[in-house]
Amino acid sequence: MNRNFLKLLLLAALGMYSLSSNAQKFKGLAKTPPMGWNSWNTFGTNISEKLVKDIADLFVSQGLKEAGYTYIVMDDGWMAKERDAKGNLVADPQKFPSGIKALADYVHSKGLKLGIYNCAGDKTCGGYPGSRGHEYQDALLYASWGIDFLKYDWCNTPKINAESAYITMRDALHAAGRPVVFSICEWGENKPWTWGKEIGHLWRISGDITNCWDCELNHGSWSSWGIMKIVDMHANERLRQFSTPDAWNDLDMMEVGNGMTVYEDKSHFALWCIHDSPLIMGNDLRIAKKETIEILSNKELIAVNQDSLGLEGFRFHSENGLEIWAKPLANENWAVLFLNRGNGPKAINFDWKLIERIEDAMKELDAHFINHTYKIRDLFAHQEIGTTEVPLKKDLKEHDVLMLKLTKIK
Ligand code: GLA
Repeated sequence: MNRNFLKLLLLAALGMYSLSSNAQKFKGLAKTPPMGWNSWNTFGTNISEKLVKDIADLFVSQGLKEAGYTYIVMDDGWMAKERDAKGNLVADPQKFPSGIKALADYVHSKGLKLGIYNCAGDKTCGGYPGSRGHEYQDALLYASWGIDFLKYDWCNTPKINAESAYITMRDALHAAGRPVVFSICEWGENKPWTWGKEIGHLWRISGDITNCWDCELNHGSWSSWGIMKIVDMHANERLRQFSTPDAWNDLDMMEVGNGMTVYEDKSHFALWCIHDSPLIMGNDLRIAKKETIEILSNKELIAVNQDSLGLEGFRFHSENGLEIWAKPLANENWAVLFLNRGNGPKAINFDWKLIERIEDAMKELDAHFINHTYKIRDLFAHQEIGTTEVPLKKDLKEHDVLMLKLTKIK
């Protein structure tokens, strides 16, 4: 081999290295908020291949796949407690006797995608082996299994820089070569909305959700949060500006069907839709009531969440526990949400043409509703209910919601 040839080889190797080190996230995998199911809210670490297969079957038979739900994510608890002799992660042989590759094949055969969970620390929150120091090895393993989504958590990470840790895993996934939606789950502690856009496709904005309307459950060193607590955290941090196609604020897996009233479930779902939050179901689909499936698969609401503009909604009025939210949609249409968040029933009496008088109304909105007329559709009742020429009157039960689509007619 002559010297020039050796030089060329070296340059080519360097070129390849700089290409591969110029890693990025897999772009365009989440142009609209990801939709799916995650095991954690209902099952904790008590998961199995039987459960995942049942859920995949139900996605198809209950019309959830058709409504847009795609990802089935196994959360914490899928692994054995130790890595193998080569340092590879191992699926718990009791829970997943056929292994993850066979499970991914099954899920893919249904036209769905499989997600998995790990943590940036030495151990996951449940005490299973974390990815720290094994990022590239784990990414290769996930790619060999056919994994499509990684939720990457933040337990046991003292002194680790969050942004760097998530970049390392992003680069590992990229190097492994299989497109994976990357879900940043560090509970909003390091303001992931300020750095997450180039790293992941979604980032949690809060600690864990729990199935109550407006509570905080204090567990000592951490709390879990009711629906309205998470909505208010989002508003207080002014997160609307950070969400954009392929990079979404994640308000956490949903608690629809997990014990709140049907009004609360409707409001919870409508709020997640108007926030462009990923729609990740967290209930036991095997025993879900008809009304729960109806809420979760409401295509008119899902269309608001999946709207191609990818612009989050905002709360523009709040008075005596009655809130009004709006979200711009493609083709100059709007979604508008009336929420009774307080106690007892409330009456809506809303004049679209007097919107300017509403405290804090956004200019964006004034111009539209005052200067134009829209026809109004109730997205839960699936009915046209008039136009914005006439004031809207409606009674709302405690914690109930009215979710509307406004289509411009002149
Ligand atoms: C954290 C996450 C949850 C879940 C658990 C699993 O609390 O925020 O969503 O993944 O860990 O242990």
